[in-house]
Amino acid sequence: MKKTYLLALPLIIGLLTSCQNGKQSSNKSPEKSGPKDTTAMVNDPHSYAQPEKAVVSHLNWDARVLFDSATIVATATWDIKAPEKTDQIVFDTYDLSIQEVKVDGQRADFTLGAFQEDQGRPLTVSLPANAQKVRIDYRTGDSARALQWLSPEQTASGSARFLFTQSQAILARSWVPCQDSPGIRFTYEADVQVPEGMLALMSAQNPQEKNETGQYHFEMPQPIPSYLMALAVGDIRFKAISERTGVYAEQPLLDKAAYEFADLEKMVQAAEELYGPYAWGRYDIIVLPPSFPFGGMENPRLTFATPTILAGDRSLVSLVAHELAHSWSGNLVTNATWNDFWLNEGFTVYFEHRIMEEVYGRDYSEMLASLTRSELKEDAAAMLEERPEDTKLKLDLAGRNPDEGVTSIPYNKGYFFLRLIEEEVGRSRFDTFLRNYFDKHQFEVMTTEAFLSYLQENLLSAEQYERLQIDTWIYKKGLPENLPKVPSQRFAKVAQALEEFMKAGTLPAQKQTAAWTTHEWLHFLHKLPDSVTVNELQRLDEAYHFSQSGNSEILAAWFQPTIRAGYEPIYSRVDSFLVQVGRRKFLTPTYAALQESGRADLAQAIYQKARPGYHAVSRETLDELLDP
Ligand code: BES
Ligand code: ZN
Repeated sequence: MKKTYLLALPLIIGLLTSCQNGKQSSNKSPEKSGPKDTTAMVNDPHSYAQPEKAVVSHLNWDARVLFDSATIVATATWDIKAPEKTDQIVFDTYDLSIQEVKVDGQRADFTLGAFQEDQGRPLTVSLPANAQKVRIDYRTGDSARALQWLSPEQTASGSARFLFTQSQAILARSWVPCQDSPGIRFTYEADVQVPEGMLALMSAQNPQEKNETGQYHFEMPQPIPSYLMALAVGDIRFKAISERTGVYAEQPLLDKAAYEFADLEKMVQAAEELYGPYAWGRYDIIVLPPSFPFGGMENPRLTFATPTILAGDRSLVSLVAHELAHSWSGNLVTNATWNDFWLNEGFTVYFEHRIMEEVYGRDYSEMLASLTRSELKEDAAAMLEERPEDTKLKLDLAGRNPDEGVTSIPYNKGYFFLRLIEEEVGRSRFDTFLRNYFDKHQFEVMTTEAFLSYLQENLLSAEQYERLQIDTWIYKKGLPENLPKVPSQRFAKVAQALEEFMKAGTLPAQKQTAAWTTHEWLHFLHKLPDSVTVNELQRLDEAYHFSQSGNSEILAAWFQPTIRAGYEPIYSRVDSFLVQVGRRKFLTPTYAALQESGRADLAQAIYQKARPGYHAVSRETLDELLDP
């Protein structure tokens, strides 16, 4: 019944018909010796960059953030590495106006190529021999898709404006001209001028308090790909959690956030014990305004997070474990292209569950794994009908928006693939294998094929590789029959209570539910059958007050059966939630439920009100779903 596949991706395929750019494939042999080159020459269908011609290595970004005109006016000065014979370098841009380009201090010729949907335009700069630095003066445009400029009313304080970026997957090019491919890494430094009274933060070494000038300096000494560039500007405060961890938020949310993330240091320690030292110095989280389109984003040193995880009882912190885990899987070892996205997300979900197990126990983490499995089964079944090719772990997103690859498959099928291997070889061997993998390939990119070779060379025998059907998992559609099972005692009890309710009308006893966590409630709500009646929903609501829940996951889960059954009292809560919250994972299924239950009128009316407050990422998905 639900067709939303985890992060609520766009459902419509084939709308995005942008043709492939004319770039030649550039598969250079990976065995080239010499110093470790952190940039892989893999053909990336989502970037115009031609790294075999010339590649960036360091960025010096000098920017002014202008709230009145909602623009960033900046200079990006790139250190480049170019072979002697090269005569040009190509950058990605999206709706940037380029004022001037200089190479090593001299004005240089440049061209902006044709615009393609999603990809934007290539910026090609002519290079003299031995060129070292390319300086680009530019400003951002009205359709800078990474940026969301918020009015004070859209923030927690209600009194100051706010700006945040979301660069993944290919939106960085809308605020910095860059080689926007996950296979190309660079270090950066930045000088950013923001209005007085505001703090600026980046995915870099960050200040902890505002200064009087509004001028801030940043350094990111470790090489990162462009999708990890990030900026947030607002009336933001800091509170320490441990020596090396802390939380940034607007004042009204600061204490609540610090309470919610109290276990942060424990999580970092658990992660380090599993897979080796944390490589990035500090680990902080910023709680953004509610229009942030994702749950979290693993910007290095500073995870960006939605305020909808502030449940008040720390029940939704697995999201923090997830973003923290990306500090290894994704940020240290990075998917070479968006076709290898499962290498980022599948590993991260696996790692997330392991951190949760270390900090909160196996019982608890197995509930999360069980939810993951149900979601995967449901989404894979729906996707097999509508877009079967996208149920492969190795994706083919060429000519499409990489956002279409953000489904349950890379996350949850990826997770179960790794869990299968763990179950085969045992934990201790698998942990050693993963630890070495992160260590050997840190600050490098990884392709699916390189990982499979590594797996064969270092862990699985030919017989095991065959028997586990590794290639089927990666290259074939659907879910193999050796999908690991997740027995959960706690969920078995929930299922029993639900059955008694549906059969005999007996509400689960207070004595029993008192011990239920958010996840047991989520299981209960997910498993409510389609046949549940308005009357039954009303009894549940009276007993457990779901409609008043302050827990966003429970509320969003409750919207499903109530909207679908036409439970009238829910609509006003749905309305206020959709206007307030911009997290796509909640929006898409809720709007879809309205539409599919004959309330397309209501979906349209609410969307009209809410749309101006949503980030472009959410707007683009919902425009397709709701076709206004
Ligand atoms: N890196 C992703 C978010 C993302 C993916 C943004 C692809 C843009 C393109 C992040 O780590 C993530 O997976 N967030 C999830 C939370 C997680 C607990 C599954 C989210 O936002 O829901
Ligand atoms: Zn992730």
